[in-house]
Amino acid sequence: MSPRPRRILFGVSGGIAAYKAPDILHGWVKLGFEVETVLTEAAEQFVSPLALSTLSKRRIWRERDFLSAEYGWQIPHISLTDWADLFVIAPCTANVLRAAAQGDGSTLLGAALLANTKPLLLFPAMNSKMLASGPVRENIRILEERGAEIVDPDSGLLACGYEGKGRMPSAAVINDYVLRALCDKKDFAGMRVAVTAGPTHEYIDPVRFISNPSSGKMGYAIAEEAWRRGAEVTLITGPSALRRPAGLEVVEVVSAQDMYQACMKSAETADVIVKAAAVGDYRAAERSEQKIKRGGKDTLTLELVQNPDIAAELGRRKRPGQLLIGFAAETQNVLENAQKKMSEKNLDMIVSNDVLAPGAGFAVDTNAITIMARGAEPLRFSGTKEESAAVILDSVSALAAGR
Ligand code: PMT
Repeated sequence: MSPRPRRILFGVSGGIAAYKAPDILHGWVKLGFEVETVLTEAAEQFVSPLALSTLSKRRIWRERDFLSAEYGWQIPHISLTDWADLFVIAPCTANVLRAAAQGDGSTLLGAALLANTKPLLLFPAMNSKMLASGPVRENIRILEERGAEIVDPDSGLLACGYEGKGRMPSAAVINDYVLRALCDKKDFAGMRVAVTAGPTHEYIDPVRFISNPSSGKMGYAIAEEAWRRGAEVTLITGPSALRRPAGLEVVEVVSAQDMYQACMKSAETADVIVKAAAVGDYRAAERSEQKIKRGGKDTLTLELVQNPDIAAELGRRKRPGQLLIGFAAETQNVLENAQKKMSEKNLDMIVSNDVLAPGAGFAVDTNAITIMARGAEPLRFSGTKEESAAVILDSVSALAAGR
């Protein structure tokens, strides 16, 4: 029997950021979640109930439905909170923060907050002076103490014309937090995980570099999944067009030498290191300060020198109990070569992918992998990179449990 869709109770309160609510809701519906929406009276000034009900394919709960003869008998503040897996309020105004912290049940949203026993995720959005005010800080402190997760607003130009902290994060960032809150597996809680992702750029002059087609998708998927499963994550990323995921420490690097430095630093505290980046094995022996000109020459010879092997160095420095996971991008003899890399670099596990196979390897959304861990049978898996990340982390989790 397939599991039932996850259920979100979505509270929208009356700030200008409410205009983003349809976008947020639409993203959840596309992921297959069921969404019930409670709109405050003030929120109706900013966003249309019809837009939200069209997208959620459900009625919208409005203030006039609270204690009304028509719908009040459904006791929405109780039935909705019983029904939901997660209660999200975005935007969450100063007034709703107060109602939540002080237990004001005089509105439908306030009564639902009082009745709620499910995880609560709040996205405050308001003017920066209001956000910094004593009552708002105090209400946030009270709610955090009671277990609510309150996501810090972004900084930038606010609707009131002020420049500062108070903007509601984008729908994509809100979704990162929602997916983490809905993830029941927390097998990486208390662990520090460092993940490398993407390519490196080895510059030969100011405008040209040697690289490879890595997009970062595989590494980013692993970093995000580890974060959802409770880890504190450092993502060490080479140049990549992907959106930087919320909640992670992101370290941006360009060359293999930069990545080496960042990895050695993270390795001092990491419990698990996953090396999904495609690191350039060679760099120019000399990087030209100026753009190299053709100068009428038919050929150009570049001398390359080897970059440090980061994984091998991490393998040498490995602390007792630390797990080092490598990847192998192969075009032939995939499993034999991967096995060899695992022992040469002192890895605990290696994930091999045949980068010439269709739908696997570089810059595609899917992968076909074989996971080889010490003392375990090889495990093959094909699927999206998100699914592959989950399977890889299941194997890491099993290794960690057996340490
Ligand atoms: O980013 P995507 O587009 O999603 O593509 C994903 C991927 C194909 C890049 C990824 O799945 C992958 O296979 N990454 C490893 C690529 C690679 O460099 O493999 P390798 O066989 O050359 O290296 C073996 C291991 O040593 C890797 O963990 C690599 O990170 C590491 N290495 C390699 C060279 C080097 N100088 N230092 C290293 O640490």
